[in-house]
Amino acid sequence: MSGGAEETAAAWSADAALLQGSVPGEGLLERALEMDAEYLMQTYGRAPVLLTHGRGALVWDSDGREYLDFLCGISVTNLGHCHPRVVAAIAHQAGRLGHVSNLYHTLPQIVLAAELSRVAFPGRVFFCNSGSEANEAAIKLARKAAWRRAQTEGGEPAVEIVYFHHSFHGRTLGSLAATRGYQEGFGPMVPGFREAPWDDVASAEELIGPRTAGVIVEPVQGEGGVRVASAEFLAALRRLCDRHGACLIFDEVQCGLGRVGRPFAYQHFGVGPDVMTMGKALGGGLPMGGILVAEPWSGALRRFDHGTTFGGNPIVAMAGLTALRVLVEERLAERAAVLGEAFRQDLRAATASMGFVRDVRGLGLMTGLELDPRGPSGQDVVGLCRERGLLINCTAGTVIRVMPPLCVTEEEVARGSSVLVGALHTLREARAAG
Ligand SMILES: Cc1ncc(COP(=O)(O)O)c(C=O)c1O
Repeated sequence: MSGGAEETAAAWSADAALLQGSVPGEGLLERALEMDAEYLMQTYGRAPVLLTHGRGALVWDSDGREYLDFLCGISVTNLGHCHPRVVAAIAHQAGRLGHVSNLYHTLPQIVLAAELSRVAFPGRVFFCNSGSEANEAAIKLARKAAWRRAQTEGGEPAVEIVYFHHSFHGRTLGSLAATRGYQEGFGPMVPGFREAPWDDVASAEELIGPRTAGVIVEPVQGEGGVRVASAEFLAALRRLCDRHGACLIFDEVQCGLGRVGRPFAYQHFGVGPDVMTMGKALGGGLPMGGILVAEPWSGALRRFDHGTTFGGNPIVAMAGLTALRVLVEERLAERAAVLGEAFRQDLRAATASMGFVRDVRGLGLMTGLELDPRGPSGQDVVGLCRERGLLINCTAGTVIRVMPPLCVTEEEVARGSSVLVGALHTLREARAAG
């Protein structure tokens, strides 16, 4: 620690005051931005807003301004902010047992695994801490399964992992190898990954073969621009994986847990995976990832093959378990299906004549509005919406992504929709005038 004991004590007391919102001589936001620039790595393009608290679909900033949060921390706070049952579960578990590692059994993760298995498909769960880690685990599982098969049947193990255009599977080196758009400067990539065109059965038939250990796909792509896979495409992947003994991995990190109108997205398509990866909303707002693995695939990873210190930690698992119960008991996925469809219909009607909205698409409460690149920029739309009290973002360069919490009220949806449509009108008029 640099500086003397007195200097350190003074700095700590200033930090304590800052956390209470008190800054002598300047605004809280300005001070926070200064400290952010000095002490945090600058890897994010953050909006100049300091969010301090939230409730349901609403969040407030340090100046007391209210926002409709229609991004949900990128599909994390699916029950809204500070759901009272989740808050109570976290507080209760934090006061009982916080962490002991996976060298011991703890009840919350066992029960959460059982409930996930009931809500999705029968299988076994491995818990980790993020979506990227869930995909790492799935990729490792696919390769280990192929290796085990080669051990018993002879021959070279299949090692290839097939992924698709526009996919986002994470930023760790393994998951990044299946995420083409974010690889620049990080090479060499983990070998053995092959990219195939999105939603194209013929190309998948060409690429998936005896050398394929696994195929990883988002049933609804999120970062790639809210693209919904066709049922035919997913069924073809299922057929090809079965034919070649490859592991079919559905990445439901963003589209899972009620977001797209079913507890899990694959339930729309009548096609099930061998491994489903989860993250984001899984921990009820706390960091958690996991894979649900159908039999016989779960036997591929055996004792000491894979592990992590925090995975399924009692506090996070308790939060996740409570969030899953709320999702099921309050039928929030069904609600998302109805509200989302109505939202997209209204948005289509309101933007049809604007001339620069190419498409309004999505499933449940995951909506993408694709802008013509010749129209207003996605960042301008996001910025103006934020000024007017609506938090959304732009992904894949031109797609405005809207993901309200599943508990959002109809009135809040109407309000969010009117801010978005109003912002599009304003920007269109500004362009016409300029
Ligand atoms: C579909 C999908 N998979 C994986 C990830 C990576 O998750 P995390 O950021 O928790 O590592 C994301 C994150 O946006 C995602 O959308």
